[in-house]
Amino acid sequence: MSDSPWANWNGEEQLLDSVHVPATDRGFLFGDAIYEVLRVYHGQPFLFEQHLARLEKNLRQLRINSDAAVIRQRITALLQRSQVQDGVVYIQVTRGSAPRTHRFPEPAVRPNELIWVAPQGDPYAALRTIGGKAITTRDLRWKRCDIKSVNLLANVLAAEDAHAAGCVEALFTDDTGRLIEGSRTSLFGVRSGEILTAPLGSNLLPGITRQLLTELAATAGITLREEALRVEHLSDLDELFLTGTTTEILPLIQVDDVTIGKGQPGPVTQRLQAEYRRVVDRLK
Ligand code: PDD
Repeated sequence: MSDSPWANWNGEEQLLDSVHVPATDRGFLFGDAIYEVLRVYHGQPFLFEQHLARLEKNLRQLRINSDAAVIRQRITALLQRSQVQDGVVYIQVTRGSAPRTHRFPEPAVRPNELIWVAPQGDPYAALRTIGGKAITTRDLRWKRCDIKSVNLLANVLAAEDAHAAGCVEALFTDDTGRLIEGSRTSLFGVRSGEILTAPLGSNLLPGITRQLLTELAATAGITLREEALRVEHLSDLDELFLTGTTTEILPLIQVDDVTIGKGQPGPVTQRLQAEYRRVVDRLK
């Protein structure tokens, strides 16, 4: 038996290993594509509607004519077929395959739609308990980071630098010293009992886990304020943590050479982690 994940390529279910993307695919040539990553817990897609809504919005932004309702059906069928209980769903939609010209193909071509469902262990389990370290790095990305496009070169390079430094994440800073988000995560600080995070805008991704976190904070009666953290204020923070689909809620205990709070995961982060687990366990 192959251990290739199950995939759906343009409506056809097949093993991911046997999917062949055309060399003229515009996602491959231009990064002309968007993507989504969902977590699967207990065989159920987590925050399914929210991820589909973001997918739909991104499709509209890029004027890619693909139907999120069809993608939803394909995901459900693929989960059924694969029987994955604990894993991830990856979705990528490109503008399609066409002779290479920068402008959109005329007449329009059919988008290429790829979905796969893969079982996945939890690479962050230990760090979620003991806390991780991060580096800061200048944000070299384009000016529409609110769109979940596959143009991730700056993110890839930042993540590699973090890994080489023995860190779990790289935190993007803008020219004025504000901390924006991680290479693949949203960022939150805790100061004097309040949670702080950068306001939504075109410079960061509106994270689905970020949205859940704002709801968990409200349930727990913890104030959350949209105010960007600053590099020079890192030493004043009591806690710092990341959120993301696969990261969940992960405490940071050091950034560059600055120790955060007491150098261990703090009570607000731990409380939110427990609330997150409660929401996941409702899928059982
Ligand atoms: N990353 N910021 C960036 C730049 C991201 O790439 C991600 C997600 C997030 C967190 O968003 P969410 O809570 O919706 O996962 C924030 C995904 C998981 C990835 O690229 O694999």
